[in-house]
Amino acid sequence: MKILVTGAGGQLGKELRTAFDNKNITEVTYCSHADLDVTDPDAITSRLRVGDYTHIVNCAAYTAVDRAEEEKAACLAVNTTAVENIARAAAETGVKVLHISTDYVFDGNTNRPYDESAKTAPLSVYGNTKRKGETALLGLAPDSIIVRTGWLYSPYGKNFVKTMAALRDKGATAHVVSDQTGTPTYAADLADAIAAILLAPTWMPGIYHYSDEGVASWYDVAVAIYDAAGKGDLVVPISTADYPTAATRPLYAVLDKTKIKRTFGITIPHWQCSLRKCLNKLIDDGNA
Ligand SMILES: NC(=O)c1ccc[n+]([C@@H]2O[C@H](COP(=O)([O-])OP(=O)(O)OC[C@H]3O[C@@H](n4cnc5c(N)ncnc54)[C@H](OP(=O)(O)O)[C@@H]3O)[C@@H](O)[C@H]2O)c1
Repeated sequence: MKILVTGAGGQLGKELRTAFDNKNITEVTYCSHADLDVTDPDAITSRLRVGDYTHIVNCAAYTAVDRAEEEKAACLAVNTTAVENIARAAAETGVKVLHISTDYVFDGNTNRPYDESAKTAPLSVYGNTKRKGETALLGLAPDSIIVRTGWLYSPYGKNFVKTMAALRDKGATAHVVSDQTGTPTYAADLADAIAAILLAPTWMPGIYHYSDEGVASWYDVAVAIYDAAGKGDLVVPISTADYPTAATRPLYAVLDKTKIKRTFGITIPHWQCSLRKCLNKLIDDGNA
């Protein structure tokens, strides 16, 4: 197995290094945005030919969900067109693609966890471009694996958990949306699941859903973060209507993970346990 990881400088890309090292997956080339621009089809094609890879794990994405409403072309280029480039080059060279997508391909008008066959109906530019990326990939390279996830956080980059931990440490009150439901996902857990998929005896193409276990609102997550420092009462619930954002988000974005658990025999940690691990890591690293 010889793996190329794109977008390796992001949250998931960084966690993949640790997960792969732990599982002794050693033949890996990690390419950050500066190393490999996935929107450049020639760069992708030549990289795949020269590298003689067996797999590409595409962690590259345009993830600024609100900014995407203004920067539609930039978002489309990374989340759709680049995925087409990767799919074409992979199909030509026989490289297997593992791509990451999002719970924001759904509209959230339900109260039951989404399985992989659920109808997609993205509400935002980001969600739309991710869905188009999925469709392009499965059309051009049907042997691919897509893992949809949601509410990703880690000690790296910018994310909700780090923002809340920083506010908490300043002693600031946080007004947090309590009517959007999903599951926070520690990028380290997703990285472990990706390692398990790659190490499975058989490559099992298709779409899979992965988040950590359990269900929460953003408010619940913020309370857990503040409460870890005994400050839970500084978090105030508000409604989505009270916190307008450029992009519309699904109110209910819980993923059904039955398929990924059964297919790859993985167990998934509860979000509260993983959140504690990440908060402890932030303290150890001096970030919180
Ligand atoms: N974050 C979430 O809450 C969330 C939720 C659901 C699904 N996902 C999906 O999970 C995956 C990983 O997300 P993440 O949180 O790790 O994202 P992230 O931290 O934003 O990382 C994405 C990486 O892609 C890179 N990138 C952007 N444009 C690129 C290009 N043209 N060529 C190569 N690299 C490029 C970025 O580099 P620069 O920063 O240097 O541009 C960044 O390092 C993505 O597919 C995302 O859509 C994320």
